[in-house]
Amino acid sequence: MSFHVALLVFFGACSLPVWFCNGQVDDTRGKLILGRESMHLCAAHFRVSTQPWRMPYYEHPIHKQFRTYIYAFTWEDPEEDMRHLGLTSNDSVLAITSGGDNVLHYAISASPKHIHCVDMNPCQGHLVELKLAAIHTLDYADFFAMFGEGRHPNFRHLLDSKIAPYLSAAAYDFWRENGDAFSSAFYLRGYSGWAIYLMRLVFKCAGASGHVKDFCNADTLEEQDRIWRAHLRPLMLNPVVVSLMKSPVFCWNALGVPLNQRKMLLNDGGVYEYIRDTLDPLPSSYLLTAALLGHYTHDSCPEYLTRCGFEKLKANSSNALHAFRLHTDTVVGVLRGLPGDSLTR
Ligand SMILES: *[C@@H]1O[C@H](CO)[C@@H](O)[C@H](O)[C@H]1NC(C)=O
Ligand SMILES: *[C@@H]1O[C@H](CO)[C@@H](O)[C@H](O)[C@H]1NC(C)=O
Repeated sequence: MSFHVALLVFFGACSLPVWFCNGQVDDTRGKLILGRESMHLCAAHFRVSTQPWRMPYYEHPIHKQFRTYIYAFTWEDPEEDMRHLGLTSNDSVLAITSGGDNVLHYAISASPKHIHCVDMNPCQGHLVELKLAAIHTLDYADFFAMFGEGRHPNFRHLLDSKIAPYLSAAAYDFWRENGDAFSSAFYLRGYSGWAIYLMRLVFKCAGASGHVKDFCNADTLEEQDRIWRAHLRPLMLNPVVVSLMKSPVFCWNALGVPLNQRKMLLNDGGVYEYIRDTLDPLPSSYLLTAALLGHYTHDSCPEYLTRCGFEKLKANSSNALHAFRLHTDTVVGVLRGLPGDSLTR
C-alpha cells in the first residue's frame, strides 16, 4: 500500500492546498506562532529568530486539523521528477513539502538556488526542519539511525544538545512532545504508518512475509519483478484492500488523499483499476523497502540517506541547505507572497 498510491497520493498532496483554498479557508489570521517560545525556556530558543529554514507563519484554525504529519516519507519517485524538471543550479523551484525526501534529492543532484517547500500541514514542516537540522548537526551514523533505521535510543539528548538551535520554536515544541517517534519504528508512525501497518498485516495474514523478505533481498530487478507479480501484487489487489481504499476516512487519514481528490479518482474509473494501474510497472525499489520492511537499509534508501548524498548536503557548512525555505501555507498563498520572477520551476 505505498507506491501503490504513489500517484494517488502525489495528486492528493498537490491538491491539498488548493482544496483548502476552495472556500474552506477564510483569511482570518491568528496569533504568530513564534510567540510560543516562552513555553519552554530552553537555551536553544534564544536563537530562535536565527533558525534558517522555516518561514514565520500565522497560526490558523485549519492547522488544528493536523495533529501530526501525514507523510513520514515521500511516496513519489524523485528520479522521475528530475527527468521531467531538468533542474540546474540556476533554478528556483516550488515543491510540496511532504516528507522532504524529494526536495532533498533535488538539493543533492542539482543544488538549485532556492527550494520553496509548501505544505498546509505545519507538522510536515516540523519534520523537514528536523531533517535539515539533523543533517547540519549530526554525523552520518546518528542520522541514519534516525531516518534510515527509524530509531535512535538517544533522540531526546540529540534534540536538546545538538539539533534544537536550528529548529523554530514550533518545531522544537512538536519534537519535544513527540520525542518517542524514534523509540522504535519511525516509519510506522504518522498517518501513513497506518497504510504500512495494513500492508504488513495483509502480507502476514496471507503467509507472504517470506516472499517480502526474498523480495527485499533479491539481487536483480528481474527477480524482484518475478516475486512481485507472483506473490505480492495479487495480495495488494484483494477485496479487503480495495474496499478500504474506497473509504474516504481511510483515504484521508492513512493516505493523505483529500475528499475532492478522491472524487476525481473515482470519476476516472474504479478504485481497483486505479490501484492496479499504479502498481504497474513496479515502482522504485527503495519506496518498496520502506513500505514492506518499515525501515530503509543502506542498500535501499533515498539519496539523502546514502553516505554520499548526506556528505554532499553537509559539505562546506551545509551550503546546499541554504536553498531551503519552508512555507506553512497554501500554494496560492506562497505564490502571492513571492516576487513575480522568483520561481523558474
Ligand atoms: C547559470 O547561469 C549562468 C549565467 O546566466 C550561466 O553562465 C550558467 O551556465 C548557468 N548554469 C547552468 C547550470 O545552467
Ligand atoms: C565545497 O567548496 C569547495 C571550494 O569552494 C568546492 O570545490 C566544492 O565543490 C564544494 N563542495 C560541494 C559539495 O559543494
